[in-house]
Amino acid sequence: MNDFKLVMISNSSIRQNTNSSTLYQIFHQNTKQSKNYLMENMYRSRQLLNSQSFRHATHNPGKHYPLSTKVQLYSPSLNDELSNLLFYRRSQIVKHLHYSLSKMEISNLFWAGYGLNYKKTRTAPSGGALYPCELYGVVINSDEMPRGLYHYSVEDNSLELMNQDNKVFEYTNYLMGLKNFRYPAMVLFITAIFDRNSFKYDDRAYRYTLLEAGGIAQNISLMATKYKLVACQLGGTDDFACEKLLQIDGVKESIVNALIVEKEGKWLPNKEDD
Ligand SMILES: Cc1cc2nc3c(=O)[nH]c(=O)nc-3n(C[C@H](O)[C@H](O)[C@H](O)COP(=O)(O)O)c2cc1C
Repeated sequence: MNDFKLVMISNSSIRQNTNSSTLYQIFHQNTKQSKNYLMENMYRSRQLLNSQSFRHATHNPGKHYPLSTKVQLYSPSLNDELSNLLFYRRSQIVKHLHYSLSKMEISNLFWAGYGLNYKKTRTAPSGGALYPCELYGVVINSDEMPRGLYHYSVEDNSLELMNQDNKVFEYTNYLMGLKNFRYPAMVLFITAIFDRNSFKYDDRAYRYTLLEAGGIAQNISLMATKYKLVACQLGGTDDFACEKLLQIDGVKESIVNALIVEKEGKWLPNKEDD
């Protein structure tokens, strides 16, 4: 065995034997929030964010190279479905509607997130095809499916019913800052089982996991757009309460992203289209 492999294997067994936390776990645990503990900067920045001039100055930030030659690109064609989904994707509801999701909508939202594709990998790419993420959903409003907390089983494209207790539907106990939402029809959680890729990529695996969770969320948002639903990513999770709800330990498996799904009643800008 060459020296490099030997060092790597002994490092890993030292870590297991001493039970020391890896850097990504320290970071992950330190960035958790709950109703009892919010990030200090979220309060500090409130004054700035309430200032119109600050918002104006920071609107659509981007770098510029004013001395460079510019090549103007074509505007999006909007003649195809994908361009339309990208163009009309949104996170905020304009007109709130009480809406019951169909089984087809629910099926396609889960499949878009992490379902199998034509070559039996997934709709979202994954570093090393190691798939650290899991997908869960609380179906709050559907006439075609029992309400409840489900886990998405990727292999057979099915939902496994985990819990139908009342506490599952009391989403304000585990989600925070819901002022933009009135009638959530479904809440989705993306979790990660970190060992699935950290054995290969070490702390760097954490980056890959978060990137993958973003890809999953974007897939779900685009599928939601197809049905004139809004799927908004939600930073405002009470992580401890969510993990309790999902019956996961928060260390080996922990929440990395969440989305709230609601029907949009006013789809096109300045035009009632439903
Ligand atoms: C990681 C992440 C966390 C977010 N958290 C929240 C949230 O807690 N509440 C909310 O209303 N929107 C949340 N959003 C949505 C953003 O507010 C939204 O993307 C932004 O205002 C731009 O609007 P658009 O997505 O409609 O283009 C989040 C988005 C991302 C990517």
